[in-house]
Amino acid sequence: MTQSVSFDRAADYYDATRGFPPGIEQKVAQAFVRAGSLAPDARLLEIGIGTGRIALPLSPHVGEYVGVDIAIAMMDKLRARIDGHPIRLIQADAAHLPLASGAFDAAVAVHVFHLVGDAAAVLRELARVLRPGARLLHGWNSEFEADALRQRFNQAAGVDEQPAYYSRGVLPAHGWTADGEEVRLTYTTERTARQFLDALRNRIWSSCWKMTEAQLAAGLAAVEAHIAAEKLDLDQPIRRHGGFSVQTYRPPV
Ligand SMILES: C[S@@+](CC[C@H](N)C(=O)[O-])C[C@H]1O[C@@H](n2cnc3c(N)ncnc32)[C@H](O)[C@@H]1O
Repeated sequence: MTQSVSFDRAADYYDATRGFPPGIEQKVAQAFVRAGSLAPDARLLEIGIGTGRIALPLSPHVGEYVGVDIAIAMMDKLRARIDGHPIRLIQADAAHLPLASGAFDAAVAVHVFHLVGDAAAVLRELARVLRPGARLLHGWNSEFEADALRQRFNQAAGVDEQPAYYSRGVLPAHGWTADGEEVRLTYTTERTARQFLDALRNRIWSSCWKMTEAQLAAGLAAVEAHIAAEKLDLDQPIRRHGGFSVQTYRPPV
C-alpha cells in the first residue's frame, strides 16, 4: 500500500490553477444536486475537500456539509472563505473517518481516489458512514487533458493518456454500482502554450510530482518541438473544450 498524496504543497496555487471559469461553479453544484437528488436538509460528506472548489458552491444547497482532508494548508484556504457556509472541516484520512456510521445522506469525491494510499479502506469507510440507500457522487473534470500539447507531453514523459483523477475503474472494482446516468456539463477554457509550459516546469499538477527530471525534460522537449513545428505563438490563447461530470454510485450490498 502507498502513502496518500497530501496537497499541502499545492495550497498556495491550487485555486489559481484548478478553478472553474466564472459562472461554471454554480452549474457544477447543480450537477451534484441533480445527480444525487439532494434535498435542502441533506447531510453531505466530502472526502478530499481541499480548498472547497466543490464545497463552496455546493454547500448552500444542503443542510450540513462535512469536509475531510489530510492537508491542513488546503483546508486553511477554505477556512478563510467559509463564512456563512454550513461547512465543518475535519483533518483526517478518508481511510479512517472519525464519523458515526450511517450519518450521511450522500458523499462527494472529486479527484481524490488516485491520491489515496488505500482505496479499498476509503471505500469501506464511505460505505460505513452513508445511511442505508445513500449514494456516493463521484465527480471529475473531463477531456481537458486530451489537447495536443498535453498529448505530446504525456507520450514523451511516459504518462498514462487517461488522467489518473478520472479513477473510473476504482469504484466498480470494489463492488460499487453506477446508478443512473452520468450528469455532464461542458464548457471551454483558454490557455497559452507558455502557460502550459510554465505549469509543467513548476510541476503544478500532482502527476508531475513523482516524475524524474529526465521524464519532465523529455516531455517538455516534445512540447517545445511541437510548438516550433507548428509555429505556434507562445502567447496566443488556445481554446480547449472540457467539462465536468458527476456519476452516482451505490455501495456494495
Ligand atoms: C486534487 S485535490 C481535490 C480537492 C477538491 N476535491 C477539488 O476537486 O478541488 C485532492 C485532495 O485530496 C486530499 N487527500 C489525498 N489523500 C487523502 C486521504 N487519504 N484522505 C483525505 N484527503 C486526502 C489532498 O490533500 C487534496 O486536498
